[in-house]
Amino acid sequence: MKNRILFVYNSVPIEERTGIYGECASVKTVNQLHQALLAGGNEVFLLNARSPVQVIEEISKLENIDLAFVIAEGFLDEPDTLYDGSGSQKIRAVIQSQGIPTSHTGIHGMEVCRNKDHTYETLRMRGIKVPGFFTIQMGDDIESMYAASSIEFPLFIKPAGGGNSVGISINSIVDDMDQLRTQAISLFEELGDVTLIAETYLSGQEFTIGIMGGIVKTVLPIIAFPMHYRVRSHASKGKEYKDREQFQILTSEDSRYWQLYDIATASFDAVEGRDIIRLEVREDANKELYVIDVNGTPSLSESASLTYMAEYLDISFKELINVIISGSLKDHGIKPSILTEEFIDQAKIKLRAYGRIVNEAV
Ligand SMILES: Nc1ncnc2c1ncn2[C@@H]1O[C@H](COP(=O)(O)OP(=O)(O)O)[C@@H](O)[C@H]1O
Ligand SMILES: [Mg+2]
Repeated sequence: MKNRILFVYNSVPIEERTGIYGECASVKTVNQLHQALLAGGNEVFLLNARSPVQVIEEISKLENIDLAFVIAEGFLDEPDTLYDGSGSQKIRAVIQSQGIPTSHTGIHGMEVCRNKDHTYETLRMRGIKVPGFFTIQMGDDIESMYAASSIEFPLFIKPAGGGNSVGISINSIVDDMDQLRTQAISLFEELGDVTLIAETYLSGQEFTIGIMGGIVKTVLPIIAFPMHYRVRSHASKGKEYKDREQFQILTSEDSRYWQLYDIATASFDAVEGRDIIRLEVREDANKELYVIDVNGTPSLSESASLTYMAEYLDISFKELINVIISGSLKDHGIKPSILTEEFIDQAKIKLRAYGRIVNEAV
């Protein structure tokens, strides 16, 4: 029997996918994911999340849903939820209240991931290195906050509730108090009354790491970005796939892979991650590694970096999505269908060298 999957997303027409709607899925991405779910032998129900009431109404028309595959970051009719760090949790709470389990990290973990100050505090408590930082609220006396912190210019300033580089550009690197103030004002103008984070600027190489949960944690081949990628802004991320031949890929045969594997798995556990997470790690000038971002709902499309990592192992986008679905179903105590298991059989073999049972690791 097929698994019945409710696919929940936020989608707006391509011309509206800027600013606060920058993280919404395009129609193309929704189609790609829909096709992937169908290819894995699932029965699929589509839901573009506009408001809690609408989500509950749509769910009430459906029966026996096994799992909600939720890439929605909030509700379209409540645009604040899409970027203020609250949406991923709210949408999960609404769906779970209807008795349907949700994919990806749970409500608490999402709360940690979607607020970078919480992410940093949580990781730091587990001994995982994160940049020194302080938070800024509207109306704060930035100069005295800086003086009270132990960090020094240059700093990097970003919204705490970020995602997909909303509010991030080359101007995020600030060399002095004037620049810090100017950038803080401009972010408050763009995003309203949000929390900002000022943190140590890390000038070294950046890595992005895809990790899948389960008894064995699987870390996909890791992307090391070219050194000339100074700041990965929303615009530059959109074009990254075009210069992929310049990316360095760390496989499980590379010792740096296992160093990053340990950071990734520790971070995954620290935020109570589930199913799939992508995190960004950056080096400082001394090549020390720091986690700068943990994404609980990483981008999933045919051109996403996670897909690129999977394709490096000859695993297709469709297989990747169903590996995630199968893991999520199992995590909720639901048996994936034979159709799905057969569909991902080869992919699982290819992933064998990319994981280990973390607690048994030396
Ligand atoms: N402390 C930092 N030092 C240098 N660059 C940074 C720092 N923090 C973020 N960046 C740059 O900004 C990009 C986006 O920041 P990130 O924290 O990952 O937010 P988002 O959630 O928007 O992806 C990163 O990929 C990186 O290129
Ligand atoms: Mg990021």
